[in-house]
Amino acid sequence: MITIKNERELTVMRKACKITAAARALAGEMVRPGITTKQIDKAVHDFIVSQGAKPSFLHYSGYPASACISVNGTVIHGIPGSYALREGDIVSVDVGACYQGYHGDCAATFPCGKISAEAQKLIDVTKQSFFEGLRFATRGHRVSDISHAVQTHVESNGFSVVRAFVGHGVGERLHEEPEVPNFGAAGHGPRLLPGMTLAIEPMVNAGSYEVRILKDGWTTVTADGKLSAHYENTVLITDGEPEILTVTEGL
Ligand code: MF3
Ligand code: CO
Repeated sequence: MITIKNERELTVMRKACKITAAARALAGEMVRPGITTKQIDKAVHDFIVSQGAKPSFLHYSGYPASACISVNGTVIHGIPGSYALREGDIVSVDVGACYQGYHGDCAATFPCGKISAEAQKLIDVTKQSFFEGLRFATRGHRVSDISHAVQTHVESNGFSVVRAFVGHGVGERLHEEPEVPNFGAAGHGPRLLPGMTLAIEPMVNAGSYEVRILKDGWTTVTADGKLSAHYENTVLITDGEPEILTVTEGL
């Protein structure tokens, strides 16, 4: 079942999502050579808690941290630790916050110092593919219209979309129906209705779309070792233009 949020729920979700987006921004500002991923995770944790919210990822299915921090060839679910960022790294930060029972979920990939032109293009294409998908996040379109637009933008720029993980509905639970893949033909899946809240999250690889999960059960890396980027927002379907809920304005 796809939940439709009422105005009361949306008021709470807007707040949850603003906290989440601010945590992402805070993490992005911390990205610099020498800082450890664990230090960024601690700042994310402490910020979310300071806002009266809870880190959604902490202890979710046993996940041990508040943020996922995925460097270079790590696609998603990188566990923060003692690794110190280096000039030229690209750093995906994924965060979730739960406020008064509702979750926000968002991610972005940040450059550490000066990065290669190819890495910057990967970051830019990944972010733009979200916005290409967003054009179809309107009443009456179907879920895979979003998927198809994301895939088309990514592949026309010579990159590939990850198949093994997908976006999702979000609300009282971090992962709700429907699944929102970043690939596939248009015209399939549920029709979008006002009040649906979706986490649209392209994961884009510079090489092949194949991924591998490390023995820790979380860290997901590109099979070919090439770079990967991630961009995600929680989005509300409305009667008109979609509303990106994970924004920092007005916090
Ligand atoms: N944004 C990711 C997702 O939607 C993060 C989940 S990490 C986890 O799946 F630890 F919470 F699983
Ligand atoms: Co998500």
